[in-house]
Amino acid sequence: MCGIVGYVGPDEALPIILDGLRRLEYRGYDSAGVAIVDGGLSVVKRAGKLSELERALDEGAAARPRGATGIGHTRWATHGEPNDVNAHPHLDCDGRIGVIHNGIVENFAALRADLEKRGHRLVSDTDTECIAHLIEDAFDGDLVTAVRDVVPRLEGAYALVALALDDPGTLVGVRVSSPLIVGMWDDGEAMLASDIPALLERGESAGERPTIFPVHEGRIVAVSREGVAMLGLDGAPVELRPLVVDWDVQRAQKGGFDDFMAKEVREQPDAIRDTLVGRTDERGMLALDELHLPADVLREVDKVFVVACGTAFHAGLVAKYAIEHWTRVPVEIEIASEFRYRDPVLGPDTLTLAVSQSGETIDTLEAARHARRQGSRVIAVTNTVGSSLSREADGVLYTHAGPEIGVAATKTFSTQMVALHLTALYLAQVRGSMFPEEIREVVEDMRALPDAVRRAIELDERVRAVAERYRAARDVLFIGRHTGYPAALEGALKLKELSYVHAEGYPAGELKHGPIALIEDGVPVVAVATECHVYPKMLSNIQEVRARGADVIAVATEGDEQISALADEVLFVPRTPELLSPVTVVVPLQLLAYHVAKLRACDVDQPRNLAKSVTVE
Ligand code: AGP
Repeated sequence: MCGIVGYVGPDEALPIILDGLRRLEYRGYDSAGVAIVDGGLSVVKRAGKLSELERALDEGAAARPRGATGIGHTRWATHGEPNDVNAHPHLDCDGRIGVIHNGIVENFAALRADLEKRGHRLVSDTDTECIAHLIEDAFDGDLVTAVRDVVPRLEGAYALVALALDDPGTLVGVRVSSPLIVGMWDDGEAMLASDIPALLERGESAGERPTIFPVHEGRIVAVSREGVAMLGLDGAPVELRPLVVDWDVQRAQKGGFDDFMAKEVREQPDAIRDTLVGRTDERGMLALDELHLPADVLREVDKVFVVACGTAFHAGLVAKYAIEHWTRVPVEIEIASEFRYRDPVLGPDTLTLAVSQSGETIDTLEAARHARRQGSRVIAVTNTVGSSLSREADGVLYTHAGPEIGVAATKTFSTQMVALHLTALYLAQVRGSMFPEEIREVVEDMRALPDAVRRAIELDERVRAVAERYRAARDVLFIGRHTGYPAALEGALKLKELSYVHAEGYPAGELKHGPIALIEDGVPVVAVATECHVYPKMLSNIQEVRARGADVIAVATEGDEQISALADEVLFVPRTPELLSPVTVVVPLQLLAYHVAKLRACDVDQPRNLAKSVTVE
């Protein structure tokens, strides 16, 4: 998704902005640009990666723009194709006002028609450009006032930053649903950004971390060398509250691996351990006061909803099995983008779990908002402290995965499952649906997960060999039963998003109702066949596809002596109780997708068309 960086201070803005944009590359983008106040307003923008922008800056007729105030942006196209003209920043008619923007202005067509009728010349296909022209109309020497005038005219969910040649030294930002933060250093240096890593990088090189202030919903922020002023839309000042950030920028580096994904897959044991830390008391019982939901409220819950997208949805599906089994409370899980449009039956006795690593996925955020409006209590399960979801939910359970830079979710997936298992156990504890001894037993099993995952990661070489064998496959089916089913869905998602190979996940019992028609000689079928109560049925499903010529790659439990006779390849993972098993099973599936993608020369950290944080509907 798009990235915003703005700088005002004593130093040259351009290198700082480019550094910040580099730190935001993980969000995914298709063009980039900068605008620097250097006497005039120098704008350089290019389709493609930041390297294209750097090349344009080096090859430009003039020297690189030098000035101490500027803005930069990485764009992920929504209105208009990714090309040089549509890249941000966008300017007004006279090139004296620059705007960068994340999100969507939904009424931009009407705004544009009106602007053009009044003689404005718009050159791009973007919604963003309208904002620069609206500010031009409203500008009377004071950028804050002009932006305040314009905001009520913009419909949609967005964050924007503007600068004006005639009010130099001030950046003005607005947040309406999309994230925006301010970093302030003691020496009168300040940055605006859509995400924290952009600021931490500067913190490292400046030798000092900034104080970070989140821009809250519907606020306008003015940033200059004199300081930060936060305002409501009515212009009334709003108190600044700093955010405590403990993420180390070093942890966001590749740590010696070729890609962030390779590193993040290997960080899973630590991430799971960190997610478990401090969540139980000395008796081994769950201690989740952080949920801020009183026990009597949780006792009254008669239905649980889970809303999420993509990989987070698969984690939610795993949770459904655990919650229903441990608490006997029915669970409905729904793709977040569908949830609020089907009028779900919500109320004060329902609990909604909104699962999102970024905490900014607009579909999940809107589903959570809808649930709250209907009276449901909402618990956010997220990896991002201070994210919109965490602030809007009744309670939050953080996954402590650390920053995940690769667009493909890996360690956030395993920690989401762990956090959701903790939530399920906590519900069982307060509702008395499990004996304390049973709860302690599951907690012990969960404490064994980091080691099981570590051993599953050791399959790397073996998985690479399997990937070599099937690298040219056109279609791959993933099948599983019970909790093996969400694991199969996740394996298929990983393969398709990373390697662009067509892959589908199915409940194995469903094959004979249609998908088995796809099986022919040599079609690879990845079968999740770990020990569980439906294992014999899974073996029958494997035989069905083998009989029709499929090549079977089985993920099985160490010590399984039957499976080798039925599969062409077997990846053995450590024995894990079936409700927890996707945490272990998914590791070889992540590695398979990784190696197939690498062998096909795909960019595993930034697959085409994808973004790390999807903040548009
Ligand atoms: C998975 O690899 C993808 N990155 C994607 O499916 C992702 O899980 C989904 O967009 C949800 O993101 P979130 O967890 O930030 O809400």
